[in-house]
Amino acid sequence: MNKIAQIFETLEYGPAPESAQPALDWLKAHDGVFGHFINGAWTKPEKTFSSDNPATGESLALVSEGTAEDVDKAVKAARAAFKSWSALSGYERAKYLYAIARLVQKHSRLFAVLESLDNGKPIRESRDIDIPLVARHFYHHAGWAQHRDREFPGQVPYGVCGQIIPWNFPLLMLAWKIAPALAAGNTVVLKPAEFTSLTALLFAEICEKAGLPKGVVNIVTGAGETGQAIVAHPDIDKIAFTGSTEVGKAIRAATAGTGKGLSLELGGKSPYIVFEDADIDSAIEGLVDAIWFNQGQVCCAGSRLLVQESIEERFITKLKKRMATLRVGDPLDKAIDIGALVAPVQVARVRDLVKQGAAEGAHVYEPDMDLPAKGCFLKPALITNVSPANSVVAEEIFGPVLVAMSFRTPEEAVALANNTKYGLAATIWSENINLALDIAPKIKAGVVWINGTNNFDAAVGFGGYKESGFGREGGKEGMGAYMKPAWEKDLKPAPIAKAVAAKPTNPLDAAEGIDQTAKMYIGGKQARPDSGYARPVYGANGNLVGEVGDGNRKDIRNAVEAARAALGWGTTSAHNRAQILYYLAENLQYRRNEFAARIKEQTGEKGEAEVDAAVERLFAFAGWADKYDGAVHNPPLRAIAAAMVEPIGVLAIVAPPSRPLLGSVALLAPALAMGNPVVLVPSERSPLSVTDLYQVLETSDVPSGVVNIVTGESAVLARTLAEHDGVDAIWCAGDAGTSTMVEKASTGNLKQTWTSRGLYYDLADREKFEGDYFLRRATQVKNVWVPYGA
Ligand code: NAI
Repeated sequence: MNKIAQIFETLEYGPAPESAQPALDWLKAHDGVFGHFINGAWTKPEKTFSSDNPATGESLALVSEGTAEDVDKAVKAARAAFKSWSALSGYERAKYLYAIARLVQKHSRLFAVLESLDNGKPIRESRDIDIPLVARHFYHHAGWAQHRDREFPGQVPYGVCGQIIPWNFPLLMLAWKIAPALAAGNTVVLKPAEFTSLTALLFAEICEKAGLPKGVVNIVTGAGETGQAIVAHPDIDKIAFTGSTEVGKAIRAATAGTGKGLSLELGGKSPYIVFEDADIDSAIEGLVDAIWFNQGQVCCAGSRLLVQESIEERFITKLKKRMATLRVGDPLDKAIDIGALVAPVQVARVRDLVKQGAAEGAHVYEPDMDLPAKGCFLKPALITNVSPANSVVAEEIFGPVLVAMSFRTPEEAVALANNTKYGLAATIWSENINLALDIAPKIKAGVVWINGTNNFDAAVGFGGYKESGFGREGGKEGMGAYMKPAWEKDLKPAPIAKAVAAKPTNPLDAAEGIDQTAKMYIGGKQARPDSGYARPVYGANGNLVGEVGDGNRKDIRNAVEAARAALGWGTTSAHNRAQILYYLAENLQYRRNEFAARIKEQTGEKGEAEVDAAVERLFAFAGWADKYDGAVHNPPLRAIAAAMVEPIGVLAIVAPPSRPLLGSVALLAPALAMGNPVVLVPSERSPLSVTDLYQVLETSDVPSGVVNIVTGESAVLARTLAEHDGVDAIWCAGDAGTSTMVEKASTGNLKQTWTSRGLYYDLADREKFEGDYFLRRATQVKNVWVPYGA
């Protein structure tokens, strides 16, 4: 056989190495040792640690371990720079972001080589995916800088942002964090992951070259303790974190009660669903990108294959064949598919998880192939014979390991896909677009790719549902996450509620003259409190005006269960929801006098205006129900991305003590308009306006379980709701202590929170609260990528 024919026969390939020299020269120019980049200058390196090349184990450079003092210096520099940076015109900020984009492009090869050396990822990926996306992010956000005020009226930047990023996409995660923060007018203190600091340091030099004003970007290197110092710093206004769910939860707890903004991009165990009518060869190639891209160290990796039973055998056979052709080796070799994992500790973690899965009965397949003699290399692995309970199915492995299961029907595929605490991404393969578009909204994940996978773009938001975190990066939503309403800074402490007459000691006295205790309302039925006790309700003059049930943990559990059974409210058409809210408003209007009298009875103040305001608010959000919509993005790929606005799920509302009716309705209306079933705890002091509401709910066709009312002590019920895994978000208009407690207790399932922190939110203010302030909090954006082209 001649040589060419032989090559075709075996498809052997020769190495195509990229030179490491330019990156090594850059390291040498810095004597291989780096300080922090603070206030536009490099600090003198003191305590350092080594950043190693995971493909060889050799040290690349020494990097400084940031102390609390370093962090403090960086925060001070960022604070000082904030004033002038945020005062620049959008055009001026845009020019800096543009300059950064240009310089990243100009030095893209150097960045790519340095990234592959430090992280171990194939040069093909750093060169063709990571670095071009970094440049794209800065270009895209240059535009947002300029159009900020037009597109985000009344919004201001947070101030100083603390940003902590992981090691899997070191420079790309930096870009996702820094570009929107700067575009919005914030200044930043960013900490790269300890394994991969080098491209962040090269980026600092790019900032210098771009003439970025000093202190706008500060890079402090170090490990978890440095990250903790950033999280704990009192003068940081917002924390943005990407990394493990475990650390994300710790950060949620640490920031509770501080008023810091927070966005979390955490782990995933994303399903990769292949239907029997899929183009199987494309689906196999997609799978290679889904789970062996970046050695599987991808938060949105398609790590859980769900394949329809009828094609399972064929698919798995083809997949194994394809796995055997994957090339594992030197990350700088342009012909390899799988490079090195980031560090020996990650290799050990992946091995341990696989071993544990095998011990639980899983079958592990690895193709027969040689690995380089040293370095953090692993073979691609496929795990079969598992049930959903197996640890390798439940846990994020973050390595080149795919877990496969099968399903029979689309319904089963959805159930399996959603059977996870995570909700970052999902992939669907089917040639039937109707089927794919039917499944996409049913999957609880922030990103869904149809007939494609791991597509990213600066214009398209990215972020998770459930324990994959909250907040979005990219797109308009991502920009919005770096701003807040200007008026928030003027909020005053809520007035302390006037003391009411002391509780009578004899419960029989309390009951005197009250013929009926107002019931709670759960699952469309009136409900007596589990405790069997009632709470007295006093009027402004201390008179007893009624009694309500003293709700407890059990009542909350029943209410949450009823609300979960009513999640279908979210898929009722928006037109229907609008009609029901209009109807609710109309029926409340009919009973204006009765509700006004009830308000007067409880507060001593005339109630008509409050009832009118509540009716108007219901009208306003009925109007929003079918208008607060998504968008269709046009990323630079042959695909559209449909940004769909979805409800969050079960929303718990703890109403403020004041304004017995409007205080609840102002929160209830946006939650319902957007499709969230609600568990509502009315004003602790004046709950009767809401317990009266059940009749209005019933006559207005609100489906049972969509609104559940539990009366009782607000702080106690708020804790139970915050701790409950069946609650997806909680809004709590409580005092500072209750707010802190709610934020801390919410870490269990990382529910989204809005708390008033003892500040007075004048919910009667139409301008502030009749628009998107609560709508944004009542929704999350899911981006569904749909490719086109025959
Ligand atoms: P990690 O979550 O510990 O590290 C991410 C970043 O957080 C790093 O910059 C780290 O220095 C910093 N950090 C660590 N502890 C901190 C703390 N208490 N306060 C503030 N910052 C802190 O991730 P790690 O340990 O490197 O990887 C462990 C596992 O986490 C991986 O095996 C993987 O499963 C998962 N992971 C997930 C990522 C994702 O994007 N979903 C990214 C990185 C890791």
